[in-house]
Amino acid sequence: MKKIAVLISGQGRNLQAILDACAEGRIAGKVVAVISDREEAAGLKKAAHAQVVSWAQYKHRETFCAALADALDAQRPDLVACAGFMRVLTPQFTRSFEGRLLNIHPSLLPRHRGLHTHRAALAAGDAQHGASVHFVTAELDGGPVLIQGRTPVRAGDTEASLAERVMSEIELKIYPQALSWLARGLLIWEAGVIRFKGRPLQVPLSLDDLEPAFR
Ligand code: GRF
Repeated sequence: MKKIAVLISGQGRNLQAILDACAEGRIAGKVVAVISDREEAAGLKKAAHAQVVSWAQYKHRETFCAALADALDAQRPDLVACAGFMRVLTPQFTRSFEGRLLNIHPSLLPRHRGLHTHRAALAAGDAQHGASVHFVTAELDGGPVLIQGRTPVRAGDTEASLAERVMSEIELKIYPQALSWLARGLLIWEAGVIRFKGRPLQVPLSLDDLEPAFR
């Protein structure tokens, strides 16, 4: 059983999908910590043992990340999943959790890093949009991508319709699946190479690769 920590700032829909997959045995893991940077995060209500490391209390990236690292280290997690966690982490933090720190980003990285990705995809006239799970490095939304799900941008799509489709049809499937593979040791990142089932991953995995339990 791998110990999983989840970092949130908002609703926690991705958190809920991870909790459900653990409860159903689809992830060979247990969520041992849920930490938000905001006391108001609705997602805090989804986990009994949720805690807050308040950005408002620190307002300084170095001290905030040091407190966050302490809170995580106390639980000794094998994997740390940023799930709608809206804080930029320090290089020291990302280095100390390298290889076990993941993020989900609502775009087809490397397109549309940062905020307002659905708006950006519509404004750019992209034919496709989606979400990516990547290992976190010091470069914001820049670490190696392990799985990416795509959806066509439809005529009439709005920021809200696209966000909902990316969330329900992609994010809520690919994040639990990625964590499941990681927990089973089928997916690893070492010496700069992502390996999936022993072989170097040349291109990110896709929705076609999802196991039946995650479709
Ligand atoms: C998701 O779209 C995630 O990719 C993003 O923020 C949103 C978080 O939603 N960066 P939730 O808190 O998981 O509901």
